[in-house]
Amino acid sequence: MTIAMREAPLLPETSETLDPLDWAEIRAQGHRMLDDMLDYAARIRDRPVWRPIPDAVRERFHEKLPCQPSDLGEVYREFTDFIVPYATGNVHPGFMGWVHGGGTAVGMLAEMLAAGLNANLGGRDHIPIEVERQVVAWMASMFGFPTDASGIFVTGTSMANLMAVLIARTAALGPSVRQRGVGAEGALLTAYTSTAAHGCIAKAMDMAGFGSKALRCIGVDGCHRIDVAALRARIVSDRKAGLKPFLVVGSAGTVDIGAIDDLNALSALCREEGVWFHVDGAYGALGILSPVLAPRLAGLEHADSIALDFHKWGQVPYDAGFLIVRDGQRHRQAFAAPATYLRREIRGLAAGSPWPCDLGPDLSRGFRALKTWFTLKTYGTEKLGAIITRTCALAGYLEARILAEPRLELLAPVQLNTVCFRYRAIDANRVNGEIVIDIQESGIAAPSTTLLDGELAIRAAIVNHRTAKCDIDALIATVLDFGARRSSGEDVVVLDVGQSPPLAM
Ligand SMILES: Cc1ncc(COP(=O)(O)O)c(C=O)c1O
Repeated sequence: MTIAMREAPLLPETSETLDPLDWAEIRAQGHRMLDDMLDYAARIRDRPVWRPIPDAVRERFHEKLPCQPSDLGEVYREFTDFIVPYATGNVHPGFMGWVHGGGTAVGMLAEMLAAGLNANLGGRDHIPIEVERQVVAWMASMFGFPTDASGIFVTGTSMANLMAVLIARTAALGPSVRQRGVGAEGALLTAYTSTAAHGCIAKAMDMAGFGSKALRCIGVDGCHRIDVAALRARIVSDRKAGLKPFLVVGSAGTVDIGAIDDLNALSALCREEGVWFHVDGAYGALGILSPVLAPRLAGLEHADSIALDFHKWGQVPYDAGFLIVRDGQRHRQAFAAPATYLRREIRGLAAGSPWPCDLGPDLSRGFRALKTWFTLKTYGTEKLGAIITRTCALAGYLEARILAEPRLELLAPVQLNTVCFRYRAIDANRVNGEIVIDIQESGIAAPSTTLLDGELAIRAAIVNHRTAKCDIDALIATVLDFGARRSSGEDVVVLDVGQSPPLAM
């Protein structure tokens, strides 16, 4: 029996969709949300950087899956009352922990526009993909890559680094590795980076099936730059042992102290040795926009691939990671996988191959490119470069304040925007760990910590474009205050950081 011969199925009485019954009402609500979020950014200094989450608030997020509808206004009130006050805090100029960008109103608006278009950038022939390709072309010209370089937006540099490992693997073992697996030959492959490199590189080696022990972590100099002579010696000895070096990962801005490896020396070594040269430029690669920093990134133009995040120094709202690959063909060889339901045409909506799904693991992908495109076009690279330069100048100011203060000690040379220091104390690791938590709970600033040669450092990474001299002064004053109290054994009770101003409702 054909479908036409069957009885027509009964359609429900109503033809309700998820669109609002009253567009005027949702328009008013939407305008309110937009105004509130613009006010949030405009008046961010009136709020604590971060505040601990009360148990009762956390408990609210353990409620059961809602089966029945709720009024949008009520759901929004939950957002304003219980989500906004307990966010990470990286919009705030006092946030200096880890490596977090501040975001911009422009990026926020672009994110809203992208959600409105609801474009899927896995593939097909539509202008959002041309926007992404335009950003790729801009990045290729910025980094001195050839015009046929290829690139793709991803969640973040952790993903971009994993993809670079997979591309380097395919380049080393040939495209058939994707069918037969890495096998016995793959077990001989070895990769190299420095002891100061980000942990996501070892994780990428693990996830790619090589195991993190196949990553050789080479020693660094006093500024945390990879020891190129030691790297060369290790490659030679590994070859002698029958192993097959296939990848070197250089760092353009190490996570702990912002060191930039000698990228020219690394690229020359990789060329000589015939190994893939990838650069983890999570935040440092965009330093190329700063006339002051660009010369220190010399050699980046010789990389085979670069990973970076626009959501760090690029100030694009999360998430906006990016990978660029010099040889577009090699990039496609690592990921393109034909499927009948993704058939390409030369006309119609299925035209425009290759598609972004040929360049990475994702098929469905959002329009991350739009907020980056808006940011680059609205501010221009000169202004973004000037912001990057300024964050480094602020780090220099923080360094000077530390050097002038006998109660503080600088723990590593300041090379970019990151400053590692501590309060001098007996039992310094404990005291400084407590100082950092106290400061975070005070809502005044939000540094993080790291360990440098076993010493716990207060780590301030100035990434946010809103951070100013007064925020550095506030950090120093707070470290000295909590330092005095913690080192005298005083139990610090952090005062209530006060109410966050409510979002206007
Ligand atoms: C040098 C470096 N590499 C990689 C990463 C990981 O980037 P993401 O958090 O975007 O995955 C970071 C994060 O701070 C980093 O600083």
